[in-house]
Amino acid sequence: MNYLAVLISGSGTNLQAIIDAIESGRLPDTQISVVVSNRKAAYGLERARRHGIPTIYHPFLPYRKAGRTREEYDTDLAEMLSDYPIDLVVLAGWMHIFTMEFLRHYCRILNIHPALPGAFPGMHAIEEAYEAYQRGEISETGVMIHWAPDEAVDAGPVAACERVPIYPDDTLESLEERIHAVEHDLYVRTIAEVLGVPLKPETEQS
Ligand code: GAR
Repeated sequence: MNYLAVLISGSGTNLQAIIDAIESGRLPDTQISVVVSNRKAAYGLERARRHGIPTIYHPFLPYRKAGRTREEYDTDLAEMLSDYPIDLVVLAGWMHIFTMEFLRHYCRILNIHPALPGAFPGMHAIEEAYEAYQRGEISETGVMIHWAPDEAVDAGPVAACERVPIYPDDTLESLEERIHAVEHDLYVRTIAEVLGVPLKPETEQS
């Protein structure tokens, strides 16, 4: 069995795609040990609870108020996660940048970012790509899955990436929808590849 820790900050649609792939049998020999959120209201926490997956809420605000550091926050998170079996840490919309106090505990940490390598780092990649398209600067965007520690923020080493076209009649919403659909499929495929488990085709799902 391969064990994942999935870290989120928001809606958790990528988390849901991974849960669905595991429960349908598409992603075999894989289990989510724990889901962590730094935001209490993250809907992804609710998704995890509905599927009986243990959750941890670990906010940074109390640390900041107490004058404590990101290193201390990361050390405590690593300590909490040490209670769970974890082969791969999957960042799925996790909006913190880890310090080495977390990173040194895990050899395999993947992050997903809704842009092509080298383009639009940060929290607003889809909006920025959409605006760049409107200005005629780009004709496509994409999805990247990369290893942490990054070479920069939302950068490589790249584990997988896929191009996503932008069309003249796209709205920001239609582009977001297309990007998220690619993310959900690419993350499941990349996790399978990294874990070395045979991903079952849609038609063979149990
Ligand atoms: C995803 O689009 C992911 O690529 C992005 O956050 C979203 C989370 O959505 N991550 C980043 O922008 C990282 N800089 P989800 O909570 O529905 O999975």
